Amino acid sequence: MTKKIAVFASGNGSNFQVLAKQFPIALLFSDKKSAYALERAEKLGVPSYSFELRDFADKGAYEQALVELLDQHQIDLVCLAGYMKIVGPTLLSAYEGRMINIHPAYLPEFPGAHGIEDAWHAGVVQSGVTVHWVDSGVDTGQIIKQVRVQRLPEDTLETFEARIHQAEYELYPQVVRELLGED
Ligand code: GRF
Repeated sequence: MTKKIAVFASGNGSNFQVLAKQFPIALLFSDKKSAYALERAEKLGVPSYSFELRDFADKGAYEQALVELLDQHQIDLVCLAGYMKIVGPTLLSAYEGRMINIHPAYLPEFPGAHGIEDAWHAGVVQSGVTVHWVDSGVDTGQIIKQVRVQRLPEDTLETFEARIHQAEYELYPQVVRELLGED
């Protein structure tokens, strides 16, 4: 039976779009009602859902609503793609082992919300992209696959960033394909 995929995105959603062009996506969730990812979902015909932490009494209640959404859709794999919240115990206990994340650096180098800028300002000659299982830490879960991306002498932060994103658009579908057993 085909595995059902959910994608979580908080903002732009370019990784979501890349996945949606290659796999049937059962749903997109955004924790930001203003996220551009939601517009992409509409154009791509992917069902989307959005609610915000502030709509709930606490993070446990917010994540319980997410677990219900995922359960209702019988989701097998959750792909975080620019989902800017740390996954808490409610969601993790229900979906650990079925949830992956993409990070724009070569973990364990440069975890956190600014992986590209941090690598750039550290003056590295290479950084990379990592897909990993989600655990309770910030970008600490077991690494599934990663790829190196060079910083070229003529790079600006913008060209370096664009090359990192390009590597993401190749790596994430590759990993999803492998996890679906389609490689
Ligand atoms: C990506 O660089 C991803 O690795 C990071 O957040 C960014 C999201 O970009 N976690 P987009 O929303 O997919 O365009």
